[in-house]
Amino acid sequence: MQQRSHIEIEGWGARHYDLTMDLLLVGRYQAFIERAVQWMDIRKGDAILDLGSGTGRNICVMLKTLGSTGVVVGVDISQEMLNQARKRCSVYSQVSFLKQRIEQPLPYHEEFTKVFISFTLHGFEDEDKENVIGNAYRALNPGGIFWILDYNEFDLDRQWFPFRWAFRHFECELASEFLSLDLKEMLAHHGFGNFVTHLVLRDYVRLLGAEKLG
Ligand SMILES: C[S@@+](CC[C@H](N)C(=O)[O-])C[C@H]1O[C@@H](n2cnc3c(N)ncnc32)[C@H](O)[C@@H]1O
Repeated sequence: MQQRSHIEIEGWGARHYDLTMDLLLVGRYQAFIERAVQWMDIRKGDAILDLGSGTGRNICVMLKTLGSTGVVVGVDISQEMLNQARKRCSVYSQVSFLKQRIEQPLPYHEEFTKVFISFTLHGFEDEDKENVIGNAYRALNPGGIFWILDYNEFDLDRQWFPFRWAFRHFECELASEFLSLDLKEMLAHHGFGNFVTHLVLRDYVRLLGAEKLG
């Protein structure tokens, strides 16, 4: 049976994850992530939690903006991803990593100004998406922002045939379902609001900012 999710990445896939992203975005991944991080409005002293932190590439971009101030914590379940991330971020003293499933309770309570999750939320069943969002909510200070970088909502059936074929062929079933999910509504149920949206890659990808209200 085909797996409904492709986000748990180990072995060859983990070791070549960055290269795969570079090839998919024809060498533009670094510029793409730098732009997204710019939109996140990172400030000196921010405390940032990255859920599903992967190879640590995105964290390094955030750390460049943070300078010597603030902290970043990356959480991931893949030992191979964590090994790469620890190595890549070893020059920075204010970053740490935790090996843990992000849909299970996390040991953080109102200690982060930003929570970030990129290309990971789409791969969870809805019940676990709710758990991840609940974890982000608890980890944030009131007024903190949950930044979600992932597929935008769009109708896959109306896309150009080769795109439709490639998406269905290479992405998981849950990713296709994510395209029609009302994510803002799900976030609002948890107490998020004041949404901010930035669209990239011909609007197929969205950086959605959701503020923890109250
Ligand atoms: C598609 S990759 C994205 C990595 C990174 N966020 C990026 O944008 O480059 C998904 C990441 O989430 C991690 N992951 C998948 N399921 C997870 C889970 N249940 N708990 C924690 N991490 C998970 C994987 O190990 C992988 O590093």
